[in-house]
Amino acid sequence: MTVSAPTSNDYLSHNWQGGHESLTQEYDYAITDIDGDIPVDLQGTLFRNGPGLLDVNGTPLQHPFDGDGMICAIRFHQGQAHFRNRFVRTEGYVAEQAAGKILYRGVFGTPKPGGLLANAFDINFKNIANTHVIYWADKLLALWEADQPYRLDPATLDTLGLENFSGLLKPGDPFSAHPRILPGATTAEDRLVNFAIKPGLSSTVKIFEFDRAGEVVHQRQFAIPGFAFIHDFTVTPNYYVFFQNPVTLNPIPFLFGLKGAGECISFNAQNPTKVWLLPRQSGQPQQLKTDACFVFHHANAYEADGQVIVDSICYDTFPSLESGVDFRNIDFDAVPPGKLWRFQMTPETATVEKQPLITRSCEFPTLNPAQVGQDYRYVYIGATDASVGNAPLQGILKRDLQTGEEQLWSAAPQGFMGEPVFIPKPNATQEDQGWVVAVVYDGDRNRSDVVILDAEQLEPGPIARLHLQHHIPYGLHGSFTPTVFAP
Ligand code: CO
Repeated sequence: MTVSAPTSNDYLSHNWQGGHESLTQEYDYAITDIDGDIPVDLQGTLFRNGPGLLDVNGTPLQHPFDGDGMICAIRFHQGQAHFRNRFVRTEGYVAEQAAGKILYRGVFGTPKPGGLLANAFDINFKNIANTHVIYWADKLLALWEADQPYRLDPATLDTLGLENFSGLLKPGDPFSAHPRILPGATTAEDRLVNFAIKPGLSSTVKIFEFDRAGEVVHQRQFAIPGFAFIHDFTVTPNYYVFFQNPVTLNPIPFLFGLKGAGECISFNAQNPTKVWLLPRQSGQPQQLKTDACFVFHHANAYEADGQVIVDSICYDTFPSLESGVDFRNIDFDAVPPGKLWRFQMTPETATVEKQPLITRSCEFPTLNPAQVGQDYRYVYIGATDASVGNAPLQGILKRDLQTGEEQLWSAAPQGFMGEPVFIPKPNATQEDQGWVVAVVYDGDRNRSDVVILDAEQLEPGPIARLHLQHHIPYGLHGSFTPTVFAP
């Protein structure tokens, strides 16, 4: 019997909207309401970041990306689990909570109260530390790409302050929210590789490589002509790979207080997307061109047979919200779906070939961390329930890049999927021996669940479903560390 995939996305918009409510309370408890069993060899901590507040004291934000960062820590230890969440005590969060009102303009369009006069010529943003959270060299870091990271205590999630990596970052310096960890097989030892971009008429890209002790052991700097809106990158043994989306920024409506900076970006479909191959060790950048597309996230990249292969989620245009429309009432049919494409770059001939890998609407790719920067077989990604159209993410899709076989587990109709994270099993011998863990918002119950799936077989559904005592607003990115922090 063949099971045909649903061809319409059957979800209730009021169910979906509940995941865009603030969570103001901070919790700390053992998770006891569990369906199934947590594997005893799943040991460590899943950290997640995302906007915890979608309003400030009742005044709604205009875009979820403007929400203050809230960290969740789910600790797995000896078959048991513990939940904790804390807001990052950024300067802006502390000030706004004390004032009981919005004091800063949001990058994505949330205005300060007071109309044009209050917003015009105000370019004082708050670092909201809401995009990603990583644990590296004994530091837990909440990342937001336009400013320094905030450092937190990994056990208590207390905010310790801005991190400057021993003076590497100056106040206000950017630090991307998408570091990649190149595993030791390709670099003699694991490296955390991250970039920082200062956009302008010419954009400066700095790249930092940190060793396991947290020292910067390699740095490069490049100039990229033109405005560059770059959220993510990939790294291979020989290249840092950047996609320069064909967008321009018209800052005038922003400066005059009419729009957020993120609303002043326009997509130029007649221009190519530029792919930059920046050599890791020495040499000059190489620019290649491909058809116009917009990319936030890449899945992975690797080198094979003189080519550089990059798998990326592409949109036909910049997926912006119409200015003035409440994001809770977004019309998904009017937003371009993201799809996973493979780009094969040949540096010698400066050519790019591309082909679609996943044609279902998808976002938030993950893979076995041992395969970062190398040829890999399996990608896991958040996906819509239906194979066509656009909708909120409700499932996790696994694709075998060798055979093309796909598996989907969907939480539809009432479940809405966050970013999956792949956790390898101890002593695994196959790439897909591990677990896929994600936070799912249950719109019927207005609660969130942490789901644990067997990464070899997604279709039977979660082997454990941990029911939290509350909801978690839709998050952005997170990561897993095998370290279990003392309660
Ligand atoms: Co991102």
